[in-house]
Amino acid sequence: MMYTEKVMDHFQHPRNVGEIENASGVGTVGNAKCGDIMRIFLDIDDNGIINDVKFKTFGCGAAVATSSMATELVKGKSIQDAMEITNKAVAEALDGLPPIKMHCSLLAEEAIHAALWDYATKHNIKIEGLEKPKTDISEDETEEEY
Ligand code: FES
Repeated sequence: MMYTEKVMDHFQHPRNVGEIENASGVGTVGNAKCGDIMRIFLDIDDNGIINDVKFKTFGCGAAVATSSMATELVKGKSIQDAMEITNKAVAEALDGLPPIKMHCSLLAEEAIHAALWDYATKHNIKIEGLEKPKTDISEDETEEEY
């Protein structure tokens, strides 16, 4: 399996690792198949701009690299712009991921959405295009609820 230089760079030197105290929104998602877990913390200001973002992951190298890149992409963006950042966009920013690792990039996208959902719930607002996050994601569409 071949990883691009950017994937290796973000895996070895992940950006924005950590936690944000009193974060505006926190989202945690897991992949039931591999057991990997990702948590995203967002700091969103009164104008709806994502001022800071941190992540923690218990996951594979591709999950670390995509989370790192995803946090770089959403930082400084408005909520609506952050909603546009799909896992495909993240993979492209990393110059690609091996096909069997594409599902790993979903963790970052879903964790960001879950954190935005948490923010929206706390502030009693509706974010266009945002749906209630799944607690578990996997390649197939099996719905699992805890
Ligand atoms: Fe689980 Fe990559 S193998 S997220």
